[in-house]
Amino acid sequence: MKIRNLSLVAAGAALLALVACGGSGDGGSTPAASTPGTPAAPALSLAAQIGQKAFVDQTLSGGKNMSCASCHSPQYAYGPPNSLSVQLGSDPTRAGTRAVPSLRYKDATPPYADNAANPDGVTGAAAGGGFMWDGRAATLASQALLPLLNPLEMNAASKADVVAAVQAGSYADLFRQVYGADAFGNVDTAFANLGAAIQAFETEDRSFHPYSSKYDLAVHNKIGGDLTAAEKRGSQVFDGAANCSACHFAGPNFNGNVGLMTDFTYQAIGAPRNDSSIPGNPDPIPANDADSGYFDMGLCGPLRTDHAPAQLGTPDPYCGKFKVPTLRNAATRSVFFHNGVFHSLNQVVHFYNTRDTHPEFWYPSSGGSGTPVSTPGWALQLSVLPGATVNKFNDIPPGQQGNVDEEVPLGTGTTPPNNTLATTLGDGVLPRAPGSAPALTEQQISDLICFLGTLSDGYQPPATTPTSGPCVN
Ligand code: HEC
Ligand code: HEC
Repeated sequence: MKIRNLSLVAAGAALLALVACGGSGDGGSTPAASTPGTPAAPALSLAAQIGQKAFVDQTLSGGKNMSCASCHSPQYAYGPPNSLSVQLGSDPTRAGTRAVPSLRYKDATPPYADNAANPDGVTGAAAGGGFMWDGRAATLASQALLPLLNPLEMNAASKADVVAAVQAGSYADLFRQVYGADAFGNVDTAFANLGAAIQAFETEDRSFHPYSSKYDLAVHNKIGGDLTAAEKRGSQVFDGAANCSACHFAGPNFNGNVGLMTDFTYQAIGAPRNDSSIPGNPDPIPANDADSGYFDMGLCGPLRTDHAPAQLGTPDPYCGKFKVPTLRNAATRSVFFHNGVFHSLNQVVHFYNTRDTHPEFWYPSSGGSGTPVSTPGWALQLSVLPGATVNKFNDIPPGQQGNVDEEVPLGTGTTPPNNTLATTLGDGVLPRAPGSAPALTEQQISDLICFLGTLSDGYQPPATTPTSGPCVN
């Protein structure tokens, strides 16, 4: 529950300032990594070459049918290749409990700490950094070993099985070359080295951090980086009216890179529970349907175990909080948030905009009477009965809902006059009242989505500048 300083808006507006000074010409001093004309990527180290092979090696999985790339597809920015909220495992009768994150730009993630410094240099220290939605993996190397043995994911029976598969595989000699003639002698050491090799691949290979979006061209003042009118307005909404940049921080970040669109902190946004209570839900999370008492609460567990609340109902500042994801390549995804409950950016932005003003669009309701009122096409709930009671924040146990963030655009942006937190749900900002007008107009939402589209890698400027289209004028 941190109170964010609105001067952040100024920090996030760096892009606008640069764009305003021209946006064309090749005068930028910091070249974007893969803009045309920059040198070819350096060759991978031998360890990274092992990691590259292991990343696509299906023999490492229990059923010999799944590799890292099955869920983290190189064609989808190392995110999921389909719109499933959660993926099936090597054992296809089992499904995961969380959406697959993109593996791009993870090299910039600092280690997890309960009191991590914020890269914006303004916000106070708070939980930040680390890998997974709950930061429970300290390094990419230790992370890589979790999916291999996870029964819901690659489902290898033991470390020894994984090591034996590497030893029987095409890159066994390379493994010995890097880790010694006796590289397979000790299972624990060999298994840890496999993790180190995967980390080397994820860190060294440019495909994990290409910096080749239109945004990169814009921010470095390169040819082709002229944002359209709609994209520029969207950038302003991102930094200003919607204040997305308060969490999806544009940078510069710890490693000096701009535009990672995360400050690596943990926030409770209160996404609706992804279960069968959503009408027509194509893929509810099986664990949610199996047990209405099961809650994935991120930092406070159950997958992470060091911040478990004494009891489910005892307020705990870590509950319901998940890592702020990068928004790079978000426009190429079709599943969003830790529980994959949203399936388009249009839905995500409308959720932010109307979570407090129209919670009945998103969460199940009970009671009420009369003629059902239908909801907009992007809502999760199809209709609502007048007078119904909304079960808001239904994926966080009631005792923990006080952690939910009330930032703009969700909040009113005003602190209560007497500044008592008792009148608010979250961080000292008053939430918008149910039924009141949302913060953003449909035009602002459409512009914002256009801006998010500039964050997709592999941008090729069109030969001729388009004069019409949804993201042009
Ligand atoms: C069955 C699908 C699946 C497979 C296979 C899989 N992952 Fe993942 N991966 C996920 C999910 C789901 C998460 C989020 C898990 C969580 O937060 O608890 C994740 C998270 C990660 C993260 C953390 C990203 C972040 O934002 O912090 C990394 C890194 C990663 N996976 C790498 C790998 C590697 C390397 C392999 C192969 C050894 C692999 N994954 C195999 C589904 C998969
Ligand atoms: C208070 C901090 C905060 C603010 C402000 C914020 N976000 Fe987020 N955003 C998060 C967190 C935390 C998540 C992950 C939540 C979860 O999974 O439960 C997230 C998730 C997302 C995702 C899903 C990405 C993915 O890979 O699944 C998108 C897209 C997104 N936010 C866009 C925006 C936009 C656009 C705005 C401004 C309208 C915004 N956010 C404002 C913290 C914030």
